[in-house]
Amino acid sequence: MTTITLPAVEVEGTLLETDCGKLRVPGCSLRERTIQLDEQLVFELVAAARTAAESAYAPFSRFQVGAALVMQDDPGETIICGSNVENSSYGGTICAERAAIFNASGRGLRRIRLLVVSTTATLEERLSERSPCGLCRQVIREFADQQTLVICDSGEEDTLGDIFDIERLLPFGFQFPPLPSRLSD
Ligand code: THU
Repeated sequence: MTTITLPAVEVEGTLLETDCGKLRVPGCSLRERTIQLDEQLVFELVAAARTAAESAYAPFSRFQVGAALVMQDDPGETIICGSNVENSSYGGTICAERAAIFNASGRGLRRIRLLVVSTTATLEERLSERSPCGLCRQVIREFADQQTLVICDSGEEDTLGDIFDIERLLPFGFQFPPLPSRLSD
């Protein structure tokens, strides 16, 4: 096991008095935290995500993405993969991350332990070209908890890439409000 420390994040919020009325600029405060990474699992998931990217169906963008994950609630620690599948309608396209997560959910699995995303982009490119889109971040959040980690592959051999927990991946992600009790009557 490798122990790593995710540094604290402090973004100060404020309340502005504007001509449009009061306006909040939300702050964000994340504590430093220590996490454990299973090296063997990381290597296996990076390899699996890179292989999955090779199977991407991306005739329109030519941008191939692969995702590989292991779920916390899977005692068998099955590696589940997905790659992007594009569609002539464009809107019918699904990203690699969601393909993998929906596959896991279809097996009754609900909590992501570690998800690795791999694209053809390397460290030369911006992180935004190697990291999950907004829609995928929200879907990851649905199946994530405090333990969930996401790694964006660097595409290099000597650098793993970028690592996130869910709060760092999607601050202020949407959370469904509790249903009013009358609906459960
Ligand atoms: N894509 C993914 O598979 N995952 C993402 O998080 C971002 C984008 C795919 C969708 C599309 O097939 C191609 O990359 C270009 O957007």
